[in-house]
Amino acid sequence: MKNLTELPEWQALFAHHQEVANLHLRALFAEDRSRFARFSLESGELFLDYSRNRISSETIKLLTELAEAVQLRQKIEALFNGQPINHTEKRPALHTALRDKRHTPIQVNGENIASIIAHMQQQLHDFVDNIHSKTWKGVTGKPIKHIVNLGIGGSHHGPQMAIHALKDFAVSDLQFHFISSVDKAHLNDVLEQIDPETSLFILSSKSFTTIETLTNARTILAWLRDKFGENVLKHHFVAVTAAPEKAIAFGIPKENIFPLWDWVGGRYSIWSAIGLPIALMLGNKHFEDFLAGAYEMDQHFRQADFSKNMPVLLALLTVWYLNFFGARAQAIVPYAHRLRYLVPYLQQAEMESNGKCIRSDSSHILYATGPVIFGEEGCNGQHTYHQLLHQGQHLIPVDFILIGKMSPSANDHHHETLIASGLSQAQALMRGKTFDEAYQELIARHCSPDEAKQLAHHQMIPGNKPSNVLVMEQLTPRNLGALLALYEHKIFVQGIIWDINPFDQWGVELGKQLLPQIIHRLKHMHTEDETDCATEGLIHHYKKIQDRL
Ligand code: F6P
Repeated sequence: MKNLTELPEWQALFAHHQEVANLHLRALFAEDRSRFARFSLESGELFLDYSRNRISSETIKLLTELAEAVQLRQKIEALFNGQPINHTEKRPALHTALRDKRHTPIQVNGENIASIIAHMQQQLHDFVDNIHSKTWKGVTGKPIKHIVNLGIGGSHHGPQMAIHALKDFAVSDLQFHFISSVDKAHLNDVLEQIDPETSLFILSSKSFTTIETLTNARTILAWLRDKFGENVLKHHFVAVTAAPEKAIAFGIPKENIFPLWDWVGGRYSIWSAIGLPIALMLGNKHFEDFLAGAYEMDQHFRQADFSKNMPVLLALLTVWYLNFFGARAQAIVPYAHRLRYLVPYLQQAEMESNGKCIRSDSSHILYATGPVIFGEEGCNGQHTYHQLLHQGQHLIPVDFILIGKMSPSANDHHHETLIASGLSQAQALMRGKTFDEAYQELIARHCSPDEAKQLAHHQMIPGNKPSNVLVMEQLTPRNLGALLALYEHKIFVQGIIWDINPFDQWGVELGKQLLPQIIHRLKHMHTEDETDCATEGLIHHYKKIQDRL
């Protein structure tokens, strides 16, 4: 493909940007009362208001032309049809097949993956029934009460996020715990909360080589064996992995292993057996709804015109700000405590996918890719970093996520205030406060004209800060599935436009490669293989502290 920035469609956007960059959203809203109607759309129970973006209808036209120019439509079909679009690892990215209600046959390595997915789903289904019906027992004969997920990255964020998001849909009284980092303090905290006789450990690791997960698993296994002897694995451990031989070598019985495959990326694996904790909390029916919501978003993504396509529009807006306005960061602010773990989930999804600098033809990229994603549940962010959004030097587009209706116990004036807070932030970012408005307010508060003039400079707020508002009708399994699929596809579209592979993560590997050498140095100071002086200096400093304790 021609270099992105040389495409006529890119050049047209560049010229258009010069024309519209200085327009103020306040003026755009003042002159067009149909702006909200023009720049909003619905898919299922998700509503997107993107009217507070620095765009006109012409911008959307030019952006969708860019999407056509990079052959997005064909690339979307390649994704769903199982083409090897993860070209650096020579494999497809088929997370969408995991939620395909129609079980469309797709061949991967000579195997119809629709049937192996159906088999895995049946295994998951039966297991959930066994735990709920208390047929599955711990080594001392007691039913399971605690589920402990041992995993990191994609084997952690999704289950942790969904367990908190969908708490109101729990059908069992199981308690869920998560251990991700190798920090022993976390592990100790969890072990203090659980009863070993009634705990089930889910060892979730696609590769079954991840040091944090395996270190935690070995420590817990030793702890359990200490109490109950050798037979504990069968009763207290299950694994979800694409490397079953490694899980078996660890000692996990074959029948306790749920399969995963290399065509499911870690950060796209919530739909697979990695979602086991979610299915255990929700039960099979709700878990199916969760998959169904994602499937509905898949259909919307595949079928809707680009100008009415939610993931495509969100992606194009990110490209618009990142590449034309130079906005390197993006905030995601869910006004919902239940969605408090959505931000780390999306941080991995977006930054591990699109934090890349090499094009598909292996040349170096000269434009920005992958924004820095950050955020925090509303209203907390308002009292921490929103100041910078309003008056800081960076342009940071925001995605606000609101829930229309909460469960009856949370759907009162608290919820009203929460929603109003989100809306007022979006409004404040858009309109800002002029010098004159600030001045008049100060005068009304009996400031002297001189003081008011001085202070008004500090109190004026530029506004013109873009945001999207996504409203989910209710936080249900189905709608959460749709929301996650929406962001997955948004990330995919960006990757296609930037001509990068969103499905590999070679950058993460270097740290994994260097780690064993440093562990070795920490254990055996007097080896020959020294590293660099900074690492050596810190190793010595660490050893000194250890010797002092
Ligand atoms: O962080 C790198 C990574 O490879 C992620 O892509 C993945 O989700 C995580 O590690 C965990 O990997 P695994 O499931 O193989 O333990």
